[in-house]
Amino acid sequence: MTRPVSLTVGAAIHRAQALLREAGVDGPRREARLLVGLASGLDAFLPTDTRLSPDAAGRLEVLVARRAAREPYAHLAEEREFMGLRFLVSGAALIPRPETECLIEALFRDRPARHILDLGTGTGAMLLSLLDRWPDARGVGVDRSVAALAVAGRNVTALGLHGRALLLASDWTGALRAAPTFDLAVCNPPYVRTDEIGTLDPEVRDYEPRLALDGGSDGLDSVRGLLPRLVRMLEPGARAVFETDPRLWEGLAALTEQHGGRDISCIPDLAGRRRGLIARFPGLAG
Ligand SMILES: C[S@@+](CC[C@H](N)C(=O)[O-])C[C@H]1O[C@@H](n2cnc3c(N)ncnc32)[C@H](O)[C@@H]1O
Repeated sequence: MTRPVSLTVGAAIHRAQALLREAGVDGPRREARLLVGLASGLDAFLPTDTRLSPDAAGRLEVLVARRAAREPYAHLAEEREFMGLRFLVSGAALIPRPETECLIEALFRDRPARHILDLGTGTGAMLLSLLDRWPDARGVGVDRSVAALAVAGRNVTALGLHGRALLLASDWTGALRAAPTFDLAVCNPPYVRTDEIGTLDPEVRDYEPRLALDGGSDGLDSVRGLLPRLVRMLEPGARAVFETDPRLWEGLAALTEQHGGRDISCIPDLAGRRRGLIARFPGLAG
């Protein structure tokens, strides 16, 4: 193997940008700067004649090749910021998205919850950001993916939330006692229609877990499956929040209403689309 030659920051950005552009990566200059920063530990806004060490140049070569193969930047950095907190990420769990932050921000504008259920917790982003903000709350995060739960477990530790977050391997609520226990349920289910998965960006299609994406033939399979049992686990007056594809919002609202959801309203994403749904459940007797 040839030893990578020492490069200036400017030349490194220029070279990385060209490779990323050729690979079809969006915003190649910005990404090239980020990769130079990641490889070198230097601020990539340093004077462009700053020299990279040969080790940093070698790391950069590997990172650029991975990004040019369309591996997401968050997998290379092994972290993603969500609600101002640092979450560890890997290919085992969905990378937390800004759309999901809109749902959490809407909850922060309302009263704190005490017992939270996060269905399909992934990295734990939704549950752990709520627990971080609401010190008196406790919560349960379930996921069918044991690999995703391992990532969530590392985030519980990194965020110092031991003792307040319980993580369980479960097919939705299957492993939980069907008793009215929770005053808030949050759920970002897989909601991509099976026939649309092939049209997603390679970063998502080829690197994020299919279990986190595939919502079945109409995108609503998960919610349809989990709602009947979920409603038995909510205290009277509990809230439930779901993320969805804006095109599926009406269908999700109809399903929620069928299962007793009331005061259904929409949480818009940053582009003003109907990304989140919030409903109140009066309880089985209500
Ligand atoms: C879209 S991801 C959401 C991850 C995380 N809540 C977030 O918002 O970043 C959906 C999650 O649901 C999980 N999941 C899919 N089917 C499931 C099932 N039957 N039971 C429990 N979890 C499931 C996936 O493993 C994945 O972690």
